Amino acid sequence: MTQPGHKIVMGVTGSIAATKSVELARLLAGACHDLHIIQTEASRHFVGEAALAAASGHPVASDLFDSSDTFAHLELARADLLVVAPATANTIAKMAAGMADNLLLATYLAAECPAIIYPAMNHRMWNHAAVRENVRLLGQRGVTVVPPETGELACGETGAGRLPEPAAIFCRIQELLGEKITGDLAGMRLLVTAGATREPIDAVRFISNRSSGKMGFAIAEAAYMRGAAVILIAANCSLPRRPGIRYVDVSTAAGLMAALESDIDNCDVLIMAAAVSDYMVSGKQTMGKLERKSKINLQLEKTDDIVSRLGMNNTSGLKVGFAAEYGRDKLERARQKLRQKKLDMIVFNDISRSDIGFESDENEITILTGSGRDVFVGKTSKAECAHRILDLVAAKG
Ligand code: C5P
Repeated sequence: MTQPGHKIVMGVTGSIAATKSVELARLLAGACHDLHIIQTEASRHFVGEAALAAASGHPVASDLFDSSDTFAHLELARADLLVVAPATANTIAKMAAGMADNLLLATYLAAECPAIIYPAMNHRMWNHAAVRENVRLLGQRGVTVVPPETGELACGETGAGRLPEPAAIFCRIQELLGEKITGDLAGMRLLVTAGATREPIDAVRFISNRSSGKMGFAIAEAAYMRGAAVILIAANCSLPRRPGIRYVDVSTAAGLMAALESDIDNCDVLIMAAAVSDYMVSGKQTMGKLERKSKINLQLEKTDDIVSRLGMNNTSGLKVGFAAEYGRDKLERARQKLRQKKLDMIVFNDISRSDIGFESDENEITILTGSGRDVFVGKTSKAECAHRILDLVAAKG
């Protein structure tokens, strides 16, 4: 089980920038924080409750007078951090005045934890003396007010009023919570797969391979240490897990595909270190246990090639695959896969050697980038290999 990070309460108020809160919620929940969202009535015009609930992993709270829990604001107030992003002029004014006519405001008043707010509004509203005064008051009382960015606003005008990008807000929150955020991958979202898929033969037997998941886990950990938000899709791995990384467990190739599809649009880099079964048993599986006979015939069919089928919505998205090869022309075969699977990089490892690769803590790899320059990493720990792969990801990203 992944250990939870901090309890964060995030207020979403009625600015058009509320559309960015779903992304921020995904980043915070992805870093394993226990995230609770409070929506104001006006924010519902811009972002739906279902999207926020799905991204945070908890139902959205909005009703101060919920008959099932009269003291919801007091429970919510026992948080490690209160974030309001975006914060409208209206909510800022009410916070400054000490009003409590909605759940977010009541929670703010009852909270003793640090609070950080991200004002977002039209630039003339932001520059109004009343707003400036309210912001100054909140700052004096210890609230961290992050001024909006300058640029083109939703209304078409240009000025100060934009909500910073979710990745930047995420980094600032991690910093406030004392989590590590520095590193060349800060703000990058990585989706990593690891382990070996299992294709059932019957209820107790399956087809699989020797991949332990150690390489994928090493990549996820190294990326997390370098500041990335990391989701690790683990296919049958029994390796230690660390707080800060979001783990999704899958078993079959089809399960892996489904898990990837649900997260692929929210990531910048996909690293497919999982050893996906190339075959599965055709037809309907016997759900019991096949009887022991002198001979049985299993008909196998090819599984989908996941990495080549998956498109990334994000045009700057990077796809990294792995090629475990042996025999003559092994490097050339890896190079072919780089092209066929339309990858940005492929990590080749030689599986004819027993001292590296499967189940081992060490590996020796060659990273093919398609740009002609291959990067050879001589036999070393999987952690070091992970960092060398991520060096190239950071340089390309
Ligand atoms: O074709 P081969 O299995 O050698 O390709 C290895 C790469 O392709 C790995 O990155 C692996 O995760 C990915 N793969 C896949 N779907 C499959 C088989 C492999 O995405 N069915």
